[in-house]
Amino acid sequence: KPKVLISQMIPEEVVRLAEGVCEIDLHPESHPLPKEELIARLKNKEGLVCLLTDLIDDEVLSGAAGLKVVANVAVGYNNIDVAAATRRGIVVTNTPGVLTETTADFAWALLMAVARRITEADRYVRAGKFTSWQFLTLLGEDVYGKTLGVLGFGRIGRAMARRAGGFGMRVLYHNPKRVDPAVERELQATWVEKATLVKESDFLTVHTPLLPDTHHCIGAPELKLMKRSAILINAARGPMVHEAALVQALQEGWIAGAGLDVFEEEPRVHPGLLTLSNVVLAPHIASASRETRTKMAAMAVENCLAVVQGKRPPNPVNPETLTS
Ligand code: DGY
Repeated sequence: KPKVLISQMIPEEVVRLAEGVCEIDLHPESHPLPKEELIARLKNKEGLVCLLTDLIDDEVLSGAAGLKVVANVAVGYNNIDVAAATRRGIVVTNTPGVLTETTADFAWALLMAVARRITEADRYVRAGKFTSWQFLTLLGEDVYGKTLGVLGFGRIGRAMARRAGGFGMRVLYHNPKRVDPAVERELQATWVEKATLVKESDFLTVHTPLLPDTHHCIGAPELKLMKRSAILINAARGPMVHEAALVQALQEGWIAGAGLDVFEEEPRVHPGLLTLSNVVLAPHIASASRETRTKMAAMAVENCLAVVQGKRPPNPVNPETLTS
């Protein structure tokens, strides 16, 4: 049987699925292996199923002579040096599609929570401050009828646009390439330049992949262009937003609020964010529904098993490594 390392705990039913076909070496914890141990345990493996907190860099790959596949349990794969894997003929796979709606639900929940001050309201009640109903307490912002700006119009960005339809919103988007006009029509979404998007959005939500040219794509210049009443949402990858600039923008009122599921140096959160009441913070859980996390793990295992069994995996990110 081919040997596969599962780097961290995933749902047991999915581990059992893999055990039927492979010899599994499971690290049954919810944190990454130290690098030396990861390298040591990969020495005799053909497959690796890993999570986004596992850093799979050139050094890790260079020690794994028999490795054929790195199956990430995430749609993003910035934790993997894909170029180094490709040079070695190692297939890298991800889990697109299964988490789209769950992630958009959560990004939408962040948007609503910031606009309507849900977490502030919760803290207010728990602190015993709800002693009388007050007309002017905890006033938030309307969502209905506002402008949603979507930066990055892939699967999740489009799922946000669909949600905006139910809220009577105007939808603007920016993407390096305009999407098919039929998609624009269906989602009632209009392509605009990035500067227009940033200027005109009441809610700006980031859904680009993390690439060298999307790093800090929302920084001080963009935050200064935004409306003072605007709210920024990021449930994609932390380094897309310049966190120190965001803290300054929130402190100085360049924008009104932010909902963040991701951070520049996870799990570290900029201390300035922790002191602000106009932000809602979450620990990178946008895809964390029971059903979706199980589907993601199953999809990654399916990708891994396909490669170790000599078949084409459903979700390669470097298909040039596949011969047929
Ligand atoms: C991903 O899949 O890239 C998310 O960040 C975690 O679900």
